[in-house]
Amino acid sequence: MSLLSASLLGIKFANPLLNASGVHCRYTDELDALAASAAGSLITKSCTLLEREGNPEPRYAATALGSINSMGLPNQGYAYYLDYARRHNYATKPLFFSVAGLSLEDNLTMMAAVRDAYIPAIVELNLSCPNVPGKPQIAYDFEAMDRMLAAVSAEYALPFGVKMPPYFDIAHFDAAAAILNKYPLVAFVTCINSIGNALVIDIENESVVIKPKDGFGGIGGDYVLPTALANVNAFYRRCPDKQVIGCGGVRSGEQVFMHLLAGASLVQVGTALHEDSPRIFARLNRELSAIMERKGYRSIEALRGKLKTL
Ligand code: DOR
Repeated sequence: MSLLSASLLGIKFANPLLNASGVHCRYTDELDALAASAAGSLITKSCTLLEREGNPEPRYAATALGSINSMGLPNQGYAYYLDYARRHNYATKPLFFSVAGLSLEDNLTMMAAVRDAYIPAIVELNLSCPNVPGKPQIAYDFEAMDRMLAAVSAEYALPFGVKMPPYFDIAHFDAAAAILNKYPLVAFVTCINSIGNALVIDIENESVVIKPKDGFGGIGGDYVLPTALANVNAFYRRCPDKQVIGCGGVRSGEQVFMHLLAGASLVQVGTALHEDSPRIFARLNRELSAIMERKGYRSIEALRGKLKTL
């Protein structure tokens, strides 16, 4: 086993890194670049049944501490990503398929299509998009989330994962985890999506920085690291039969190491990948290896979830 090798759902990964869904994965050339990069796997843009333009631009802005976006699920429609997934070479690295239907029925249709394609793509069901006007984040409505997971588990009938929004209260960690634990087919939990409906203000222009929703959007990057780590660790502790994928605030090997310590099996990179290029994965792997070697760790398994408390 090499130093960085990782595992999820019994599948081997050369390293724990991949893109966060939404970043560098809308078009096939972007996905191809991720496939050719040092990332251990890759994930497609969250798709809907039909192609979407998304929200009006500007809809992404970089800030000193991260990013704000209100993309609104611009994507080519699920058939485009399914076509890509059919052609993907799974021998090079695993591929995740992100699904973000605008209704329960849409999710059932898309996931049935993935299942019936008989490909080893791993579905990550996005329950946490903050940016479609009129569509609240499902995972903030526990009854809706429960109904969604019951229906999807029954229809899809294969292991899948869920992309969760950040929670900020212990009672919410408990309630969300209790629902997830009702569904054994929910095999992994990705924490976190962007922190939704934040507001970045440009003081010179006395203005918001993105156009949709009067400037409200999901933030990522440095702003979100502690919240991401808390959510990774909260679900790692509460869902012993599931795996956790960490996402949020990763821009060097140090943050990857923190996510792994908190319990993540794999780690996604969003804002930092958007601000750089798929070349970032080689650097992150180098930096993670250096930290592990300095600390005497010979495998990711040896440190995963080993966060100490006081
Ligand atoms: O921050 C996000 N932006 N999270 C999502 O789940 C979707 C994406 C978008 O397209 O708005």
